[in-house]
Amino acid sequence: MNRIAVCPGSFDPVTLGHLDIITRASGLFDEVIVLVSVNKMKTNFSFSLEERKNMIRAVTGHLPNIKVDSFEGLLADYVKQIGAIAIVKGLRAVSDFEYEFQMALANKKLYNDAETVFLTTKAENMYLSSSVVKQIASFGGDISHFVPEQILDDIKKRLVKEK
Ligand code: PNS
Repeated sequence: MNRIAVCPGSFDPVTLGHLDIITRASGLFDEVIVLVSVNKMKTNFSFSLEERKNMIRAVTGHLPNIKVDSFEGLLADYVKQIGAIAIVKGLRAVSDFEYEFQMALANKKLYNDAETVFLTTKAENMYLSSSVVKQIASFGGDISHFVPEQILDDIKKRLVKEK
Protein backbone atom coordinates (compact mmCIF):
# COMPACT_ATOMS: atom_id res chain seq x y z
CA MET A 1 0.00 0.00 0.00
CA ASN A 2 1.26 3.45 -0.89
CA ARG A 3 0.94 5.45 2.31
CA ILE A 4 0.26 9.00 1.22
CA ALA A 5 0.21 12.03 3.51
CA VAL A 6 -0.87 15.56 2.72
CA CYS A 7 0.92 18.57 4.16
CA PRO A 8 -1.46 21.51 3.59
CA GLY A 9 -0.90 25.22 4.02
CA SER A 10 -0.72 28.66 2.46
CA PHE A 11 3.09 28.64 2.14
CA ASP A 12 3.23 32.39 1.48
CA PRO A 13 6.22 31.83 1.38
CA VAL A 14 7.53 28.42 2.47
CA THR A 15 9.85 28.81 5.50
CA LEU A 16 12.54 26.66 7.15
CA GLY A 17 9.84 25.70 9.67
CA HIS A 18 7.65 24.29 6.87
CA LEU A 19 10.64 22.57 5.27
CA ASP A 20 11.51 20.85 8.54
CA ILE A 21 7.99 19.45 8.87
CA ILE A 22 7.88 18.39 5.18
CA THR A 23 11.28 16.69 5.47
CA ARG A 24 10.31 14.79 8.60
CA ALA A 25 6.97 13.77 7.05
CA SER A 26 8.83 12.47 3.98
CA GLY A 27 10.61 10.01 6.27
CA LEU A 28 7.35 8.75 7.76
CA PHE A 29 5.25 8.20 4.62
CA ASP A 30 5.79 6.72 1.15
CA GLU A 31 4.64 9.91 -0.51
CA VAL A 32 3.99 13.41 0.81
CA ILE A 33 1.92 15.89 -1.13
CA VAL A 34 2.65 19.47 -0.16
CA LEU A 35 -0.70 21.04 -0.82
CA VAL A 36 -0.99 24.76 -1.41
CA SER A 37 -4.41 26.06 -0.55
CA VAL A 38 -6.37 28.37 -2.82
CA ASN A 39 -8.38 30.12 -0.17
CA LYS A 40 -10.90 32.57 -1.55
CA MET A 41 -11.45 34.03 1.91
CA LYS A 42 -7.76 34.92 2.05
CA THR A 43 -6.86 37.21 -0.85
CA ASN A 44 -3.88 39.14 0.46
CA PHE A 45 -1.18 36.70 -0.57
CA SER A 46 2.25 38.16 -1.32
CA PHE A 47 3.06 35.39 -3.79
CA SER A 48 0.88 33.90 -6.53
CA LEU A 49 -0.17 30.27 -6.39
CA GLU A 50 2.39 29.33 -9.07
CA GLU A 51 5.16 31.22 -7.26
CA ARG A 52 4.34 29.49 -3.99
CA LYS A 53 4.33 26.07 -5.69
CA ASN A 54 7.60 26.78 -7.53
CA MET A 55 9.32 27.87 -4.31
CA ILE A 56 8.25 24.62 -2.61
CA ARG A 57 9.51 22.61 -5.62
CA ALA A 58 12.84 24.46 -5.48
CA VAL A 59 13.41 23.65 -1.79
CA THR A 60 12.17 20.04 -1.81
CA GLY A 61 13.90 18.92 -5.02
CA HIS A 62 16.31 16.73 -3.04
CA LEU A 63 13.48 14.73 -1.47
CA PRO A 64 12.38 11.92 -3.81
CA ASN A 65 8.88 11.32 -2.42
CA ILE A 66 7.50 14.85 -2.41
CA LYS A 67 4.88 16.14 -4.82
CA VAL A 68 3.48 19.67 -4.92
CA ASP A 69 -0.14 20.33 -5.72
CA SER A 70 -2.83 22.93 -5.03
CA PHE A 71 -6.48 22.71 -4.18
CA GLU A 72 -9.57 24.80 -3.89
CA GLY A 73 -12.32 23.71 -1.53
CA LEU A 74 -12.34 21.32 1.36
CA LEU A 75 -9.12 19.65 2.40
CA ALA A 76 -11.07 16.55 3.44
CA ASP A 77 -12.41 16.15 -0.13
CA TYR A 78 -8.90 16.32 -1.59
CA VAL A 79 -7.58 13.82 0.97
CA LYS A 80 -10.41 11.42 0.18
CA GLN A 81 -10.02 11.83 -3.56
CA ILE A 82 -6.34 10.86 -3.58
CA GLY A 83 -6.65 8.20 -0.85
CA ALA A 84 -4.26 9.85 1.61
CA ILE A 85 -4.08 8.31 5.08
CA ALA A 86 -2.84 11.38 6.95
CA ILE A 87 -2.84 15.16 7.14
CA VAL A 88 0.46 16.35 8.58
CA LYS A 89 0.62 19.66 10.45
CA GLY A 90 3.38 21.31 12.44
CA LEU A 91 2.58 22.58 15.93
CA ARG A 92 4.64 25.49 17.19
CA ALA A 93 3.06 26.56 20.43
CA VAL A 94 -0.05 26.24 22.54
CA SER A 95 -1.48 29.16 20.56
CA ASP A 96 -1.61 26.96 17.42
CA PHE A 97 -3.38 24.21 19.25
CA GLU A 98 -6.96 25.44 19.51
CA TYR A 99 -7.30 26.21 15.80
CA GLU A 100 -5.48 23.06 14.71
CA PHE A 101 -7.54 20.91 17.10
CA GLN A 102 -10.74 22.36 15.66
CA MET A 103 -9.59 21.68 12.09
CA ALA A 104 -8.44 18.16 12.92
CA LEU A 105 -11.84 17.32 14.46
CA ALA A 106 -13.75 18.88 11.57
CA ASN A 107 -11.63 17.05 8.99
CA LYS A 108 -12.11 13.76 10.83
CA LYS A 109 -15.87 14.29 10.80
CA LEU A 110 -15.81 15.11 7.09
CA TYR A 111 -13.57 12.15 6.21
CA ASN A 112 -13.03 9.49 8.85
CA ASP A 113 -10.37 7.47 7.00
CA ALA A 114 -7.48 9.91 7.44
CA GLU A 115 -5.73 10.93 10.65
CA THR A 116 -4.29 14.34 11.43
CA VAL A 117 -0.69 13.87 12.57
CA PHE A 118 0.93 16.72 14.50
CA LEU A 119 4.69 17.06 14.41
CA THR A 120 6.24 19.23 17.09
CA THR A 121 8.27 22.00 15.56
CA LYS A 122 12.00 22.25 16.23
CA ALA A 123 12.66 24.61 19.14
CA GLU A 124 14.48 27.10 16.90
CA ASN A 125 11.43 27.41 14.63
CA MET A 126 8.90 28.03 17.39
CA TYR A 127 8.48 31.71 16.59
CA LEU A 128 8.72 31.32 12.83
CA SER A 129 5.86 31.98 10.42
CA SER A 130 5.42 33.28 6.87
CA SER A 131 4.05 36.53 8.36
CA VAL A 132 7.13 37.03 10.52
CA VAL A 133 9.37 36.45 7.48
CA LYS A 134 7.39 38.97 5.39
CA GLN A 135 7.43 41.57 8.12
CA ILE A 136 11.19 41.31 8.70
CA ALA A 137 11.93 41.33 4.95
CA SER A 138 9.71 44.32 4.30
CA PHE A 139 11.72 46.36 6.80
CA GLY A 140 14.99 45.24 5.21
CA GLY A 141 15.90 42.78 7.99
CA ASP A 142 17.91 39.62 7.50
CA ILE A 143 15.68 36.63 6.71
CA SER A 144 18.49 34.23 5.81
CA HIS A 145 17.95 32.23 9.00
CA PHE A 146 14.23 31.81 8.29
CA VAL A 147 13.85 30.72 4.66
CA PRO A 148 15.70 28.15 2.53
CA GLU A 149 18.70 29.58 0.72
CA GLN A 150 17.42 28.66 -2.77
CA ILE A 151 14.50 31.08 -2.51
CA LEU A 152 16.09 33.83 -0.43
CA ASP A 153 16.72 36.17 -3.37
CA ASP A 154 13.25 35.63 -4.89
CA ILE A 155 11.64 36.55 -1.59
CA LYS A 156 13.84 39.60 -1.06
CA LYS A 157 13.20 40.87 -4.60
CA ARG A 158 9.46 40.54 -4.25
CA LEU A 159 9.12 42.09 -0.84
CA VAL A 160 11.38 45.01 -1.60
CA LYS A 161 9.40 45.75 -4.80
CA GLU A 162 6.19 45.81 -2.82
CA LYS A 163 7.35 48.64 -0.56
O1 PNS B 1 -0.87 27.80 6.27
P1 PNS B 1 -2.28 27.97 6.76
O2 PNS B 1 -2.88 29.27 6.20
O3 PNS B 1 -2.39 27.88 8.25
O4 PNS B 1 -3.13 26.75 6.14
C1 PNS B 1 -4.48 26.56 6.48
C2 PNS B 1 -5.12 25.42 5.65
C3 PNS B 1 -4.93 25.65 4.17
C4 PNS B 1 -4.48 24.11 6.03
C5 PNS B 1 -6.63 25.42 6.04
O5 PNS B 1 -7.14 26.71 5.92
C6 PNS B 1 -7.46 24.47 5.20
O6 PNS B 1 -7.39 23.28 5.36
N1 PNS B 1 -8.26 25.04 4.28
C7 PNS B 1 -9.10 24.30 3.40
C8 PNS B 1 -10.58 24.50 3.71
C9 PNS B 1 -11.10 23.45 4.63
O7 PNS B 1 -11.01 22.27 4.39
N2 PNS B 1 -11.67 23.90 5.76
C10 PNS B 1 -12.25 23.03 6.74
C11 PNS B 1 -11.26 22.57 7.76
S1 PNS B 1 -11.88 22.99 9.34
